Amino acid sequence: MNSQPLQAQKQAVPGAFDRVARRYDLLTGMNPGYRKHLRWSAERMRLTDGPELALLDLCCGTGLSTEALVRCYPRAQVAGLDASAGMLAVAATKPWARAVRFVRGDAMDPAASGLPGPFDGVLMAYGIRNMPDPDLCLRRLFALLKPGATVCFHEYSVRDSRRARLVWNAVALGIIIPMGLLTSPGSDIYRYLRASVNDFDGVAGFEARLARAGFTDLKTETMDGWQAGVCHSFLARRPA
Ligand SMILES: C[S@@+](CC[C@H](N)C(=O)[O-])C[C@H]1O[C@@H](n2cnc3c(N)ncnc32)[C@H](O)[C@@H]1O
Repeated sequence: MNSQPLQAQKQAVPGAFDRVARRYDLLTGMNPGYRKHLRWSAERMRLTDGPELALLDLCCGTGLSTEALVRCYPRAQVAGLDASAGMLAVAATKPWARAVRFVRGDAMDPAASGLPGPFDGVLMAYGIRNMPDPDLCLRRLFALLKPGATVCFHEYSVRDSRRARLVWNAVALGIIIPMGLLTSPGSDIYRYLRASVNDFDGVAGFEARLARAGFTDLKTETMDGWQAGVCHSFLARRPA
């Protein structure tokens, strides 16, 4: 996939994840803070747990982000959407998975995949960067939310900081790509990951994109560890 322009590669991302699905949890398990940071993002949403609470994990993958939602909001109705059958198959094996409705579909249009909402909260972890048209994705997502609902985008964003770009490229070139090649030989997905993060919005640019889509109450925080300044939790709200 890496010989194609980045935009064309985005269409091939779910297929590439199919091929690394069985090793995905192994690789992310070697990334210190990966699960803890997802849990922070889920907690930051500060939703009131209960059987009426409707949550969506967009680009849920093998369910690591879904698990963060399920652990924070154990009484909620949680749905997870991903386009990769392989990633969803791994998610379905998790001990908590019976409580979740997993759907295969395109995050560009969850309603077309039978998830019309309305949702009280949506978490999208490491997803928005892969969308072929992020503005359209955000507008459609906005329409799926109840008034006052909360969204959280958990994403790498390094464009605004020279230090963050240096750290990201050192970690990607020195650790993520070599480990990815060891655990999933032949896959280009980790080289795509490096390039797509370098290409993605800076923090200010993504916040502006959220505001253009109608979101308010933007609150962005970064993570600790090597991800400080590199990985961010962008919280926003559909106005009540
Ligand atoms: C890096 S993984 C993140 C998985 C999970 N959210 C986590 O935090 O571990 C990105 C996921 O996005 C999915 N994805 C990419 N493009 C998609 C699209 N257009 N529609 C639905 N899922 C997509 C991939 O299949 C992959 O499972």
